[in-house]
Amino acid sequence: MNSKILDGRKLGEKLNKELKEKIKQVVKKIGIKPTLATILVGKDPSSKIYINIKQRMCQEVGIESIILELDENISKDDLLQEIDKLNNEPSVHGILLQLPLPEKLLNYTGVFLEKISPLKDVDGLNPFNKGRLFDYDEELAPCTPKGIIALLKHYNIEISGKNAVIINRSNLVGKPLIFMLLKRNATPTVCHTSTRNIDRYIKNADLLIVAVRKPKFITKERIKEGVIIIDVGTNRIEGKLCGDVDFDDVLDKCGAISPSPGGVGPLTVHFLLQNTFNAYKKQLNITEI
Ligand SMILES: NC(=O)c1ccc[n+]([C@@H]2O[C@H](COP(=O)([O-])OP(=O)(O)OC[C@H]3O[C@@H](n4cnc5c(N)ncnc54)[C@H](OP(=O)(O)O)[C@@H]3O)[C@@H](O)[C@H]2O)c1
Repeated sequence: MNSKILDGRKLGEKLNKELKEKIKQVVKKIGIKPTLATILVGKDPSSKIYINIKQRMCQEVGIESIILELDENISKDDLLQEIDKLNNEPSVHGILLQLPLPEKLLNYTGVFLEKISPLKDVDGLNPFNKGRLFDYDEELAPCTPKGIIALLKHYNIEISGKNAVIINRSNLVGKPLIFMLLKRNATPTVCHTSTRNIDRYIKNADLLIVAVRKPKFITKERIKEGVIIIDVGTNRIEGKLCGDVDFDDVLDKCGAISPSPGGVGPLTVHFLLQNTFNAYKKQLNITEI
């Protein structure tokens, strides 16, 4: 499909519909519903909003969604125990630890992610699944990069041979993207706050992926004519959502752009559902779908 605006909302709806059909077929055959357990520690309002969206989408495609709400003062050991209970519960196929954790537990985030069974790690943040990505295995890879790749594929945007510049080096976005882009024969460059003369890289990008938490970070003057831009950022200005790219400013000059909102976000949610289904199939040895 050819279009200048890469519509993640439309693609997300299409992929969710297809997934719903697959889930329906398997559940009809084996009588077990895929189940995702989400752990929410504390009462962060944004986390609550995200969890509600995910729960609604689970219901829409036929995934059972359980939310475990835990007190923000829970101890490290107790949280580890809660994760282990879910690891050992056969009716739970996917486990999602909603991040960020409250301040007191923040430093142990890696310890908790490591505790999640790699088989149920639908966010792809357990070290085992990170390692699998090193070998280009994306079965349980992080959802946002999967969404970016799916969006490019849907719009027939060639990745091979491109200078792909990622402005972000987080575990959720930049780092997994390096391997996903390498797998598809792009030449990825990762920029961050210590990158010197970042404009040199931005200007050279054929494919530019931005996730910096800064509205209007990318403007027309900074980009190369025809560049494909994926705006991952989600910022709120005076109550209105926007990305990291000045959309109206760059629209004429770029080759294509995924807007924010309405680009990568809906696909991130889709791949959470898809990863849950992948984890379920693996645990139940379902191969034919
Ligand atoms: N739509 C979705 O589904 C989705 C999913 C995930 C994330 N997001 C959004 O994506 C954004 C990033 O998320 P995250 O969790 O990856 O955030 P993060 O951990 O804060 O990462 C931000 C990255 O941007 C880099 N950065 C910040 N300012 C910069 C600058 N002036 N020049 C160059 N690099 C700069 C940082 O560099 P350093 O490493 O040097 O600090 C860091 O690597 C957020 O807006 C988030 O809401 C959206």
